[in-house]
Formats: sequence, structure tokens, C-alpha cells
Amino acid sequence: MENFVVSARKYRPQEFDTVVGQAHITDTLEHAIQENQLAQALLFCGPRGVGKTTCARILARKINERDGSTSEDGFSYNIFELDAASNNGVDEIRELTDQVRFAPQVGKYKIYIIDEVHMLSSAAFNAFLKTLEEPPAHAIFILATTEKHKIIPTILSRCQIYDFKRITIEDIQLQLKKIAEKEGIAYEDDALYMVAQKADGAMRDALSIFDRLSTFTQKNITLAKAAEVLNILDYDQYLNIVDLAHENRISEIVSAFNEIVKKGFDSHIFIAGLGNHFRDLMMAQNTNTLNLIEVGETTKTKYAAQSKKWSAQLLIDAIEICNHADINYKNSKNPRLTVEIALMQLASLTANGSADKKKSI
Ligand SMILES: Nc1ncnc2c1ncn2[C@@H]1O[C@H](COP(=O)(O)OP(=O)(O)O)[C@@H](O)[C@H]1O
Ligand SMILES: [Mg+2]
Repeated sequence: MENFVVSARKYRPQEFDTVVGQAHITDTLEHAIQENQLAQALLFCGPRGVGKTTCARILARKINERDGSTSEDGFSYNIFELDAASNNGVDEIRELTDQVRFAPQVGKYKIYIIDEVHMLSSAAFNAFLKTLEEPPAHAIFILATTEKHKIIPTILSRCQIYDFKRITIEDIQLQLKKIAEKEGIAYEDDALYMVAQKADGAMRDALSIFDRLSTFTQKNITLAKAAEVLNILDYDQYLNIVDLAHENRISEIVSAFNEIVKKGFDSHIFIAGLGNHFRDLMMAQNTNTLNLIEVGETTKTKYAAQSKKWSAQLLIDAIEICNHADINYKNSKNPRLTVEIALMQLASLTANGSADKKKSI
């Protein structure tokens, strides 16, 4: 069996121009290298999985390449990496600060990457601070952290700070598409959108969900499977419920809900999600607000089609019904009934007309 390399490792960018969604940083760094304007200490901050370590390594390599201390196979002699998450002690830092004093044997710079720098113990931090206060001219420090607020002001003030951003859903989706194509994995666009959304801005998370899905689906990632694996209620289920409501099919709407509960979905999340679906339909009625819906393109088209069947007033009523159930859910002695009542009210909306319904709430 061929060894499986996780995508997060296999697809770690090796160049600045393949780093996704951080152009404000990669452009600046590229420019600073060209112009010889790099600071001696840089701090990369931002959420996890957005490219801090990746960029630190690329930058270190670039600096080395420029000063000729890289061997022909790309190995850099002058890059030292310390992961403070696993080596947070004063000993490692002492060793590092001892080494720093000596000039490199080849090339001009020694580059120290200290990852997760907020994890250093305070003794280690203090030992390091001395070096950072008066670094030798050949030393460059690249520090990375997810917790900028834990970095003491004395360090912050000595570093050039780069704030990494969460990566947008669209950028993540596009990256997943590229990887799927390279790996020969079939996919539905909207499934990748769902994965990207779930990753909440972190490319690493997106890639690990992607790997899990690709294994689970035997390289055919559909929206339905993605929803199943991520334990997200498939958009189609909400579309179905809303169609049943529109057609006043009370018994069917209640049984559809029953099926959803049987699959283990939380009914509170369900009703809140249904409210959100009606909200999305409201947004879908107007091309100006269509883009405020966070779903993939195919699903968006379905939402737009469904929204045409509803008047704006009925949608508002529907949102109110869901919201009401959402708020009352926790205080209800029988929360399931609370949701069922809401569903019955929803399924009566188009029968009653909106004016009558107001009285019945
Ligand atoms: N901006 C990005 N562009 C492309 N891939 C990324 C990006 N950020 C993270 N990744 C992917 O996630 C993995 C982990 O990223 P890493 O740089 O270690 O994140 P961080 O240090 O911010 O937690 C990388 O190997 C790469 O596959
Ligand atoms: Mg990192």
C-alpha cells in the first residue's frame, strides 16, 4: 500500500505565490527581501492553520538563498526552528541564545524560527528577551503565535508585526478544488464549499476534513456525504421542509422532522437552522442580497428558486415563528412539541394568509 501523506503536509506551499489569502503579507515580505529592508525580528500572528509556519519557513529559505548559504539541493544550513509548544524550557532557549552569538560559517544570516512563542515559560521568555534586545547583526528572528495578547509589550515593541487573516470560504474552496483535481478526486462544488465553511478560516482544518471525506467517500465527495460526515443538516433537508410548509402538508412536515431527530440531529439546532434558512430565502429574493447567503453556487440557485414561491411578508412570519420557537425552546417542558408546533404553524402559513396567522400565534 502506498503511504498516505496528509494533504496539509503534501500541499504546504513552498513559495510565497502559492500561499493563499495572505497577499498583504507575502507581498510585503517579498518586497522587503528585494529591498533589503527586513527587520531583525518579525512576529507572525493569527489564528491556527492560516500559513504562519509556512511563511516563516519560506521567508527563512529566501533569505538564505539570497546570501548563498543554501546547498544545491535546497538545504539551508542557517535555519533553526524551535517549536515552543514542545520545547518551552529555559534550556532550549539558553542553547539557542548561546548559538546566536556565533556568526554563520557560510552566508550572512542565521535565521531562528520560534513557533508558538507564547508557549515559552516565563524564565525562557526572559532569557530570550536579552538576545532580542541586542541581537547580533547576523541574526534574524521569526516568531509565530496564535495568541498575540500573551506576548509581552517589550517583545511586541521589538518586532515587526504581521497579522495573518482567516482565509475566506471562497479561497479555501478554490484551494480544495485544485487539490481534488490533482489527486483525481471527484467532488461537488457545494460539498467543498461546505467543507470550507466548516473550517472557519483555517486551511489546515479544511485539508484534514477534506482528507477524511475523501477516504470516507472513496474519492467522490458529494454534498450529501459531506453533510453526513460533518454532521451538518443538508441544505436539501431544509429545502424539503420549506416546500412541505408551502404546500400545507402538516403530517409530512412533522414526520420529516421526526426522521431528522432519529438521525441524531439536535432539534434546537434544527429549528434555529430552519429560521436561518427562511432568512436566507429572504436574502435570495433580491440579487443585491443574494451574496449574503453563505452556501455554494448550486445551492444558492435552489434557494433563489424556492424564495420565488414565498411573499416577503410570509417569509417574515416564518422567521418569526422559528425565532419564537428558538427562544422558547430552553424553557419548554416539551421542547420537541415546541418545534412541532412551529412546524405546524409554518405549514399553515400559506393556507391562512399572513394576516390570520398573526392572531393564532
Ligand atoms: N495560506 C495558506 N495557503 C495554502 N495552504 C495553507 C495556508 N495556510 C495553511 N495552509 C495549509 O495548512 C498547513 C498548515 O499551515 P501552517 O503554516 O502550519 O499554519 P499555522 O502555522 O498558521 O498554524 C500547511 O501545510 C498548508 O497545507
Ligand atoms: Mg504554526
